[in-house]
Amino acid sequence: MSHPPIRLGVNVDHVATIRQARGTLYPDPAEAGLLAAHAGADGVTVHLREDRRHIQERDVRALASQLTVPLNLEMSLAEDMLDFAVSVAPPHCCLVPERREELTTEGGLDVAGQVDRVRAAVARLGDVGVRVSLFIDPDPGQLEAALAVGAPAVEIHTGEYADHPERMDELAAQVRRFAGDAAAAGLEVHAGHGLHLDNVGPIAAIGDIVELNIGHFLVARALFVGLPAAVSEMKQRMVAARG
Ligand code: PXP
Repeated sequence: MSHPPIRLGVNVDHVATIRQARGTLYPDPAEAGLLAAHAGADGVTVHLREDRRHIQERDVRALASQLTVPLNLEMSLAEDMLDFAVSVAPPHCCLVPERREELTTEGGLDVAGQVDRVRAAVARLGDVGVRVSLFIDPDPGQLEAALAVGAPAVEIHTGEYADHPERMDELAAQVRRFAGDAAAAGLEVHAGHGLHLDNVGPIAAIGDIVELNIGHFLVARALFVGLPAAVSEMKQRMVAARG
C-alpha cells in the first residue's frame, strides 16, 4: 500500500525563547517561520503558552498573515486561548495540556478525562474553519476519546520514545500500532516531541503518520548550520526513512 508523503512542521518557539531572554526585538520567530517554509517546511508551528514565555500574540498574528504554508497554533484548552484562536482562525490548532512549571509539554492531553470540554473546543474551532489535532499519548483510551469528541486529527506524543533510546524498537512499534489504529479509525495522524536527526527515522518510516512537528532540535541545530540547512537536512532524513 502506498502512503502519502510525510510533512515537516517546524516549531519556531525557541527562536522566541532567545528573544525573550533579553527582551529584544530579535530574533523574530515570524521571520524564522518564513525562512523555514522557504527551506522546505510544509508547515510552521507555534505554542502560545499561558505564561507567554516565548511566543507572543503578535508573533501568531504575524505568521498567520504572512505564511504561505499552514500555521499550526498549539495551545491549551483555556477559554482565553480559545477566544484568541477563534480571532486568528489559523488553518490548524493542536490542543495540548499545560502546566506552568513544566519545561515543555509533558505528557499528552487527557481527552478521556474531559470529553465534554474537548468536544466543545473542537466544535468551536471547527466553526471558524480551524482543523484541530489533539496531542495525545499512544494510549487506546485516549484514541477512543479523540474519536468521541470529533477531532479530525491526533498528534502522537513521542516524548517517551525520545527519552528512551535504549527501548527505541519497542517504543517505535508502540507508536506504529497506535498510528495504524488511529488511521484505520479515520483520523489524520501526526507525531512529535523530542525528535532529532538520529531518532526521526523509525517514526518517519511509519506510513500512517503524515506529519511530524519538530522544534527544539531544529533551532539548536540552526545555531551551527543555519535554519534553512537544518530544515532541509531533517526533511531529507524523513523522506529517506519513508523509503
Ligand atoms: N508537538 C507538540 C504538540 C509540542 O508541544 C511540541 C513541543 O512544543 C512539539 C511537537 C515539538 O517538540 P520538540 O520541540 O521537542 O521538537
